[in-house]
Amino acid sequence: MDTLSKFIFPGILFLLTLVFGFWLSRVGKPYNGLLFNLHKLIALGAVVMMAVQFFKILKIADSPLLLFVLLVVAALCVVALFASGALMSLGKLDYTLTLTIHRVAPVVLTIVLSLVAYLLGRKL
Ligand code: HEM
Repeated sequence: MDTLSKFIFPGILFLLTLVFGFWLSRVGKPYNGLLFNLHKLIALGAVVMMAVQFFKILKIADSPLLLFVLLVVAALCVVALFASGALMSLGKLDYTLTLTIHRVAPVVLTIVLSLVAYLLGRKL
């Protein structure tokens, strides 16, 4: 539980990222600069804080293979989110494709992080 409690603040930042993402989407194009930057910066904060916690845990977890694989998938989702977000804001590549990536990646990320939280809650 102590381990999981370290993820409360990054988790709140992740939820705020989703809230600002849906808000940004609702306001539509051209994107509101303030909402866009808040969404992007909160996302960056959430990712950095989660990464720091996960690296600490990977060092002390005794069977990290499954954990490691899940974290690689999570990292790929984050890369996909930042790349698709940047491409949408620049108007590059097909918008429908980048939006689809930007909508699917948070779902996969949430599932993967829930699995990680479950494994950590069970093992540590
Ligand atoms: C952990 C990282 C991120 C998550 C979980 C996330 C999540 C979301 C979600 C859920 C939406 C609403 C999509 C919808 O309408 O169904 C959204 C919209 C958006 N996000 Fe992100 N996002 C992240 C990072 C970023 C970054 C880094 C950027 C910019 C570089 C970005 C740019 C955008 C833009 C431009 C939209 C509006 C899309 C539109 O409807 O036209 N996002 N995001």
